[in-house]
Amino acid sequence: MTPKHFLDLSDLTAHTVRDIVDEARHRKEARAGLPNGTPDADQPLAGKLLALVFDKPSTRTRVSFDLAMRQLGGDTLMLNHNDMQLGRGEPLSDTAKVLSRYVDAIMVRTGPHENLTELAAEASVSVINGLTAFSHPCQILADILTIEEHRGPIKGQKIAWLGDGNNVSVSWIHAASLLDFELHLAVPENFRPPEDVLSWAAERDAKIVFSNSPEAAVDQAIAVNTDCWVSMSDNPEEAAARAKAFEPYRVTEALMNLSDNGVFLHCLPAYRGNEVEARVIDGPQSVVFDEAENRNHIQKAILLWCFEG
Ligand code: CP
Ligand code: NVA
Repeated sequence: MTPKHFLDLSDLTAHTVRDIVDEARHRKEARAGLPNGTPDADQPLAGKLLALVFDKPSTRTRVSFDLAMRQLGGDTLMLNHNDMQLGRGEPLSDTAKVLSRYVDAIMVRTGPHENLTELAAEASVSVINGLTAFSHPCQILADILTIEEHRGPIKGQKIAWLGDGNNVSVSWIHAASLLDFELHLAVPENFRPPEDVLSWAAERDAKIVFSNSPEAAVDQAIAVNTDCWVSMSDNPEEAAARAKAFEPYRVTEALMNLSDNGVFLHCLPAYRGNEVEARVIDGPQSVVFDEAENRNHIQKAILLWCFEG
């Protein structure tokens, strides 16, 4: 049987994305009040083993997938790239085939997106994208769950993205195409998301709007998103040039006041004083820690979708 991979939201239907977000919300509600280490009553993934492969750092993705698998009754193996033969040049294709003999699913965080797609092509178990330089689909489903908890259904709403047209913004664009909300981006000209992603969205009549100012992007938005100025796959030597380009796009209290009492989201890690003022991320409109918690609930729904056959 061909495994179900979770590589990008653009591979999924609107129905699947809606089901995953709803399943996460129901499971979250069903275990309210239980200690984090206590499994869900039904333990639907008992006997299943998930490998977590990292060749980039992670706090949230690492812990939330580990926790998610335990709460579903399954188990995990934490594998760091440099501790594996991968780090010495063993081919990804051989690694995919070998891991498929040992575990029941693989989550991978890597730089080049091609590493992810190659692993998926060669694996005979489900592969999940835990972030690449191109996209971060698990994150955006957690963000949608968070926005809907605070502001109700996302359909038809205005969502703002400020700063870098990076991996997180790509998954937001994919989501906007599926769930029919307006995504307003204010990004510097040289840091637009990839043009093929924008064409893909345009072909699907997605409501992607490039605003010529951060003010226009956040005006009456119900949620304001940003991300760090230098991502893990970016060249650190470009940090100064990036800082110069992104400084006008910092999320400030004055900008948040233009929103429709919008919630502030950030996938984290955040750099206070760079992409966001401390009083915004630590202020009353910030939902970043609900967002981080929701990574766990969403990972569970993603895992269940992969395993449901
Ligand atoms: N948001 C996110 O993916 O965080 P980590 O890099 O800590 O996993
Ligand atoms: N855009 C960031 C997200 C981190 C979770 C990065 O790729 O480093």
